[in-house]
Amino acid sequence: MRVLQVAAEVFPQVKTGGLADVAGALPPALAREGADVRLLLPGLPAIADALAGARSVLRVGPRFGAAHVELLHGRLQGSDLPAYVVDAPYLYRRAGNPYLGPDGHDWPDNLQRFALLGWAAAHLAAGELDPAWRPDVLHAHDWHAALACAYVAAHPPTTAGSVFTVHNLAFQGLFPIGDFALLELSQRALWPHGIEFHRQVSFMKAGLLFADRITTVSPTYAREIATPEFGCGLDGVLRDRHHDLRGILNGVDRELWNPAADRWIAARYDATSLAGKAYCKAALQREFGLEPRADAPLFGVVSRLTHQKGLDLLLGALPALLARGGQLAVQGTGDDALEQAFRSAAQQHPQQVALNVGYDEPRAHRLVAGADVIVVPSRFEPCGLTQMYGLRYGTLPLVRRVGGLADTVVDADERALAADRATGFVFEHAQAGALEAALVRAMTLFRDPPRWQAVMRRAMAQEFTWTGAAREYLALYDEAIRSRRETPRRWAMR
Ligand code: ADP
Ligand code: GLC
Repeated sequence: MRVLQVAAEVFPQVKTGGLADVAGALPPALAREGADVRLLLPGLPAIADALAGARSVLRVGPRFGAAHVELLHGRLQGSDLPAYVVDAPYLYRRAGNPYLGPDGHDWPDNLQRFALLGWAAAHLAAGELDPAWRPDVLHAHDWHAALACAYVAAHPPTTAGSVFTVHNLAFQGLFPIGDFALLELSQRALWPHGIEFHRQVSFMKAGLLFADRITTVSPTYAREIATPEFGCGLDGVLRDRHHDLRGILNGVDRELWNPAADRWIAARYDATSLAGKAYCKAALQREFGLEPRADAPLFGVVSRLTHQKGLDLLLGALPALLARGGQLAVQGTGDDALEQAFRSAAQQHPQQVALNVGYDEPRAHRLVAGADVIVVPSRFEPCGLTQMYGLRYGTLPLVRRVGGLADTVVDADERALAADRATGFVFEHAQAGALEAALVRAMTLFRDPPRWQAVMRRAMAQEFTWTGAAREYLALYDEAIRSRRETPRRWAMR
């Protein structure tokens, strides 16, 4: 089966979050299962410059305001993944964040930038851009690639099935309705029951309405987004399509995230010999300027600092953590107010709290390896990868019971402990008090090393592999292809 994966970021070239990890790990996992997989990516500088052996597939000509648009094909350096890159220097050759300008606001022409990505995906799927390779299925990730599904629906000769994956329903790709004309789609795509959302154009809705199948990145989030609480205004659309919606849990890239082989950490270890983890903890305390104490439970955070991630709850529980002799190491970037709050906590308690602002991949590995607990108190979490990295490194996750966090962590309550099933600490409500109670439970268990180590070993034995996810996607691709053949998605389908 030929599969085209369409995404705006890919590890290691461009990464703002877990989407890049998925775009880097799912294609090789599908290839190991026998699929012929290629990626389609925007020609952001770090991506275009990493395309080895690039050859021109087609000069597309002017599109979406860019005078020069060309489709290139080659292999991504590092991962060696086969990839098409949409080279459109006017739209993509910009340094920094793929979605935001240097002022921290969305690029003003994001509509054109990501319409071009979707347009190229659909026309590649129709066999119109590369006569030598025509996919059987087009798999678009997040709103950045979602418009591909509308262009496929607009293009009846396409036989390729389409799958759209929601990585985060909160980012929807909303644009002024007056800009709809720039998309070169029929008005019927907009009204009625089209991609209009509260007098705006919604790229996310294009994926939800026009893909043959929809997935999201955990079974629990798949249920949650069909409810008003988590649906971001699109829960009705998702309920309408609940037969076509699946939750497929992300995996962990077991080569990149492996404490027995990680070249970035101070000492390597595995479940049978945990001594290296104590070195990693001491090294992390040194690196972050914390008091070098093996007996202090060290809590870690590696995260975007946003409302989603619930780190304000952790600030609320901080006094209890400090009073019990705990330590906290935070690495992240995002909201100024959150950064500032963690910075002032670090200034007041330099031996116990440390903050590293910025994005740093090797340091994220060192933090995951060196901490005792990784804290992920999210308000919502489609999947979450850091808690799975924590499990693999014997760094017990402390998480809220939502989305993928609920699907991957088993709370260390008495019953789970007795049955040797516990892998971390789970709390229910998005309240500092609930998080604090879980912190206190973690600190109590930490003072009981044999029981703590039993939970560590159970955590490290968890296998969230990409192989399982890849097989589920392949079965779903078959469904999407059949569905495209039998009941193609068209405009105004309600
Ligand atoms: P999200 O995609 O919502 O940000 P995930 O848990 O799925 O959350 O993925 C986050 C990814 O980004 C992980 O690979 C994590 O290690 C990484 N990450 C987040 N913040 C940082 C940071 N400041 N430095 C390095 N890596 C980070
Ligand atoms: C999003 C979600 C995160 C998920 C990631 C990869 O960024 O916020 O929960 O793990 O996508 O699917």
